[in-house]
Amino acid sequence: MRKSRIVTVFMLISIMFTSLLFANGQSEESTTADKLFTIGMSQCNLGEPWRVQMNADVKSEADKYDNIKVIYKDAQNDTLKQRSHVEEFVSAEVDLLIISPKEAQPLTGPVSAAMAAGIPVIVLDRAVIGDDYTQFIGADNVIIGKAAGEWVVETFGGKGAKVVELMGLQTSPPGQDRHNGFREAIKGSDVEVIFEADVKWLEPNARKEMESALSRFDDIDLVYGHNDPAAHGAYLAAKAAGREGDIQFIGIDALPHEGVAYVKDGILNATFQYPTGGNIAIQQALKILAGETVEKNITLGSRLFTTDNVDTGGVELK
Ligand code: FRU
Repeated sequence: MRKSRIVTVFMLISIMFTSLLFANGQSEESTTADKLFTIGMSQCNLGEPWRVQMNADVKSEADKYDNIKVIYKDAQNDTLKQRSHVEEFVSAEVDLLIISPKEAQPLTGPVSAAMAAGIPVIVLDRAVIGDDYTQFIGADNVIIGKAAGEWVVETFGGKGAKVVELMGLQTSPPGQDRHNGFREAIKGSDVEVIFEADVKWLEPNARKEMESALSRFDDIDLVYGHNDPAAHGAYLAAKAAGREGDIQFIGIDALPHEGVAYVKDGILNATFQYPTGGNIAIQQALKILAGETVEKNITLGSRLFTTDNVDTGGVELK
């Protein structure tokens, strides 16, 4: 009697123990905590400091987590190469794709194909066409372009200004938006664009185009570069012609070691910050990988740095 009671108690304990173990095993299987996720990062080029910074921001955030591994591909400013990179990430069955596309239209199809293959996609900084992606992260380039236009109108205080506009690649949405926002803000004012060129975001192109502008026009008051490399290229051309003192230069990006440093050094009069969003992309990727629903669009803020406020950290753009 006594012996059988001991056996029963022993059996009960072992059943409880096994079921505990089983439950534990099951819950571990259903969490994602110990799964290693692979994220593909398709960067359109690493030839510009801003993109190097974007990848560094992705990396420093990703390094904080041991359940993600990021594989980087640099398309070297070649759209066809970037299309193949996306296709390679899809064939490799990455768990999530982050892409900063060179151009909108040609990368829209590959992004859709990734989505169709069940791979969530975060589009960073430059948009694709339509809304077949999981999330877009970037600052509002119409707002930044408008703020640049308003700054010029105010700075020249009704006296008017003759402007050279050195545009970012016009097949990429930030270039179109920075142009449209600026034009909207100067409409009806005395600010006049006397020369415009698509310098495709590149400093050497900007320098060349500015040389043409300088040879055609004796009177230039300001250069609006769609990014800081464009504004800097224009400054170098003006300096070589001995005319940099007569012209103001403004740009966009405001990296601490690039645009902001140019403002501190008196090369640029103003720069508007364009955050890379690299760190936020990783934070959002983790949410998506954990099965959470995320916002379709995350709009990043911006700051304005001028000669007057650069030492105190600039001002937030409203
Ligand atoms: C770098 C860059 C930046 C610019 C951004 C726009 O490739 O040209 O200077 O702000 O891309 O997408």
